[in-house]
Amino acid sequence: MILWIVVLFSSYLRENLNSLRILESNREIKMSTKTSKYIPVDTKHLKLNTILDFDIFIQTGNNFVLFRKQDLPFTEETLNNLAANKVNTIFVSEEDREKIGGYCRPIENRDNINIPDKCLTAPFDNPENLEKYYKTYINYYPIERGNLLPGSRIDFNVYNKSNLDVELYVGPDIGNNLAGIVPNDIHNAQTAITIHKDDIPLYKEYINNLSLELTKSKNDSSDLQFSILRENSKFIIKDILEDPRSGETIQKASELVETLTDTILDNQSNFSSLLKITSHDYYTYTHSLNVCSLSIGLGTNLNLKRDPDLLELGLGALLHDLGKCTIDLRVLNKPGKLTEEEFKEVQGHVTAAGELLVSSNTEIPKNAMFTILQHHEKMSGKGYPQKLKGDQIHINGRIGAIVDFYDALTTERPYKKAFSPFEAFKLLSKFQDDYDKELIKRFIVMLGKQAQLERQN
Ligand SMILES: [Fe+2]
Repeated sequence: MILWIVVLFSSYLRENLNSLRILESNREIKMSTKTSKYIPVDTKHLKLNTILDFDIFIQTGNNFVLFRKQDLPFTEETLNNLAANKVNTIFVSEEDREKIGGYCRPIENRDNINIPDKCLTAPFDNPENLEKYYKTYINYYPIERGNLLPGSRIDFNVYNKSNLDVELYVGPDIGNNLAGIVPNDIHNAQTAITIHKDDIPLYKEYINNLSLELTKSKNDSSDLQFSILRENSKFIIKDILEDPRSGETIQKASELVETLTDTILDNQSNFSSLLKITSHDYYTYTHSLNVCSLSIGLGTNLNLKRDPDLLELGLGALLHDLGKCTIDLRVLNKPGKLTEEEFKEVQGHVTAAGELLVSSNTEIPKNAMFTILQHHEKMSGKGYPQKLKGDQIHINGRIGAIVDFYDALTTERPYKKAFSPFEAFKLLSKFQDDYDKELIKRFIVMLGKQAQLERQN
């Protein structure tokens, strides 16, 4: 399977290299008519053999000319061409600031993912923008468009969201007759939407009513059912992470894992719908839900028993990042490089979770604890906190490590773009010495099957 993916990728790259040669031979360089500003990027920060999703410009005198169109690879040959023309700095349009930020910093080591960080361009180098980013991140709660029914009434404001700001989209504050009515075209757009955190109770009520309506009307839209389950799961996980010492934590988490496990067992062919989180933001609760669902899915494919194996695996996966609630949000979601101290603080979330559960006298099955304590260990012994190797890592820890890695790669973060599943598989196979090879294969096959079934439906 891994070989198949690598072969597929090579042929894709070959095809694109051909188009690059044609472009270069024609010297398709033209004057830019854009009036926007340009961001300088040192060529040494650009990653070789990657597909750029933004245009590259070079400066000649006071003008910026288009050198390379987007969607073409940046290769050693391209770099040599630039060097031969004494070009050490390329320029990217201000409009593509977020893209270059994500491109240059594909993954930071805070996830313990061993990918070289070749570029130092930060997406938020302006302190005002950084403050705006934190304010939006902390005060707003991302929701999914799919959960708002066209024509239904809402008592809360919904905002369109960019990385930095929000803009009122629909809700009572619009101030006309249709103010609180969800527009018919709500599902057409792809941009992220969000609500103010103070409106979460109103949104919860809306979701509950939607769920009741769905039951009453015997509507069997599994997509909407999954979407409601996902939204309710996020509320529960958010509550757990905000008050992990509460005596009800494990009770609430166990009940949720039972629901998720039964849903996955009943819908083995389409449970990936549970993962369709379209939010462009990373929050620990969405990551925890994804890691939990994917771990149960993989466990199901390994024919693990529901009780206790899948339930324990799911519980550990749901709570795997519990220790992150002890980390300052500004560090956890910092859209830039972490200092060494901050990096250590983030890594400390594993032991923090263990201490938190012990101090709150919370009893948790041993097999669930393995995922919490070992999901950053690596088969090669290069992980943390204990630098365990191979069989010293419990299967639940090994599953947690693969799934955590995959979800970190495929989720957008302020300092990196979201990788496609294909790119994530490629990286998984590249770092296969760090992960259980057999489990990687089973995981890829499982997701491949889901994708195939999704295409058929
Ligand atoms: Fe973690």
